[in-house]
Amino acid sequence: MWSAPRVSYMQGKLFAPAIADVKPPVLDYLKAFDSRDVERCLSFCNEDTTFHFLWRSFRGLKGIANWHRDRFAADLRVTRVDEISVEGNTVDVDVVVTSNKLKARKVNQVGARITLRLERGALKDVKFALRKPDRSGTTESTGPSLYRSYVGPPENYDVAAAMQFNLLTFLGLRDDHYLLDVGCGSLRAGRLFIPYLRPGRYFGVEPEQWLIEEGIQNEVGRDLIRIKQPRFSNDPDFTLTAFGQQFDFILAHSVFSHSSQTQMRRCLSEAKKAMQPSAMLAATYFKADANYMDEEWIHAGRSSFRPDLMDRLAAEQGLVCKHLDWPHPHGQSWVVFATSSGASAVPDLTGIGKYISYADMAPWDTMTAGA
Ligand SMILES: C[S@@+](CC[C@H](N)C(=O)[O-])C[C@H]1O[C@@H](n2cnc3c(N)ncnc32)[C@H](O)[C@@H]1O
Repeated sequence: MWSAPRVSYMQGKLFAPAIADVKPPVLDYLKAFDSRDVERCLSFCNEDTTFHFLWRSFRGLKGIANWHRDRFAADLRVTRVDEISVEGNTVDVDVVVTSNKLKARKVNQVGARITLRLERGALKDVKFALRKPDRSGTTESTGPSLYRSYVGPPENYDVAAAMQFNLLTFLGLRDDHYLLDVGCGSLRAGRLFIPYLRPGRYFGVEPEQWLIEEGIQNEVGRDLIRIKQPRFSNDPDFTLTAFGQQFDFILAHSVFSHSSQTQMRRCLSEAKKAMQPSAMLAATYFKADANYMDEEWIHAGRSSFRPDLMDRLAAEQGLVCKHLDWPHPHGQSWVVFATSSGASAVPDLTGIGKYISYADMAPWDTMTAGA
């Protein structure tokens, strides 16, 4: 299956000799994967190698070995290689994959992009992300649940929606409020907010139009769209002012968990301009001891930040950041950004975690993100 991929190199780059070096080891690794040879796969890795598989990351040889065994047990296979492109020490391989887990969910195959970055002859990191369909409805790229899998573990699509709805109504969202859902994806939460709010009150920003379309087709339905008149924008740069609307609530769920600091700054400065004086912006992020410093949006995997960065970003916009105790099924942390008067209306949620349980859900640690 590796014999006839289309190979496109970045034109006119001066690092052509380096390009010649990175493709063979990547193809060798993919062949080892294809032949289910864990030892050989591990020979391309070291303790610093990280695999980002959809929403989870695996670092070090032990974790990566387990990841391979799990994928082989699920019979994850590449059924087609569409394109291989090389830039510097990074190789992008566009593939179509299948697995028993996908088939169990009635998805025969999905498009994926594997991005492999090499450093000193070993794999530095490998990212496995779902690939958006070239054309909506193509059989190889969309399955009934690709639009669900694209935004998070499909096993928890329902709970992730309920959590957002519960929190916002707890914070005071009522049906005459205006809500902006930043990165609304496939309307995971929108399918609860759109019926709840009065007509013309739900707004979504989502660069991937196909996700909105799939959400409307499979989750919300055209009748509700006609009745509730939600509005959408595909702006890819966090432009939140384009609707000409001041919002009571802004939601950014699982967006700062993939963003760079620059993107968060841009989002917050735009949000500030689109917030009513008493508005709240509820967002999630992954807490860490160090801040993600790169500039790119991370689709496969996550970015993470120190809590004090959230306070600083808020202060830069003249806002206050409140850290909430509201649990999250995938370990993200909730914060609310508000003006100082708006912040005084944020309820004290200390201890609420003991009343909200995700114990009946597929455990995050063992979840294999559907493939
Ligand atoms: C992990 S998903 C979460 C989707 C949704 N908030 C939910 O909870 O289901 C992140 C979403 O952010 C979207 N996204 C990426 N860049 C964005 C940007 N610049 N502005 C708004 N959304 C963006 C992605 O396309 C994706 O749908």
